[in-house]
Amino acid sequence: MANPQVKLAPSILSADFARLGEQVAEATKAGADYIHVDVMDGHFVPQITIGAPVVAAVRKWTDLPLDVHLMIEAPERQINQFAEAGADIITVHIETCPDINQLVSAIKGLGVKAGVSLNPETPLTAVTEILPSLDLVLVMTVHPGYGGQPFIESTLEKIARLRAELDKKGLTAELEVDGGINAQTAPRVVKAGARVLVAGAAVFSSGQTVKEALGELRAGLL
Ligand code: DX5
Ligand code: ZN
Repeated sequence: MANPQVKLAPSILSADFARLGEQVAEATKAGADYIHVDVMDGHFVPQITIGAPVVAAVRKWTDLPLDVHLMIEAPERQINQFAEAGADIITVHIETCPDINQLVSAIKGLGVKAGVSLNPETPLTAVTEILPSLDLVLVMTVHPGYGGQPFIESTLEKIARLRAELDKKGLTAELEVDGGINAQTAPRVVKAGARVLVAGAAVFSSGQTVKEALGELRAGLL
């Protein structure tokens, strides 16, 4: 049986946006654990992708938790909209947050789980103090902005250090990784300590069906 502790979060960034609802339903039926939604604003990262209205539309196609990853400047201005649209988890980038304590409280105040993400070059120390308040920590394993990039090897050590810190302090935040996750890298990030794996290209543009692609990812974790 596949490792039951590991969750798979297909990123719809690599889905066919013209058939988004169907692709989300397909991933749901194929055993995804979360649906990962990559929100980009053209400022924090170069592309503009998905806004709250699309989250509301996706909400109708799945009962899975919507894991909304905000790659945007001034996320405090947007969290209400995404919560109303049906987000279950809202993750903000530590690089965009001058007052992370206040923002995490505000997210939780909306009845949504709170996550914080770190870019590959951002040290773990940036999130040390907020860790006890978090539901999820997202370690970027590529530079945010685009799907389909190669996994950055040096992030393995960071994942391992974060796992050790969470365990040592008895903290329950989920350790999620995002970028370059495929059947080869998935077992390695799990071994380092990741428990939620985001995968975009490997699920939606691998040439396989979504069901086959998710099955292959799970099989690699046996
Ligand atoms: C990158 C996004 C990722 C991306 C992952 O900025 O945050 O969620 O979609 O894509 P893959 O799995 O294709 O690397
Ligand atoms: Zn993401």
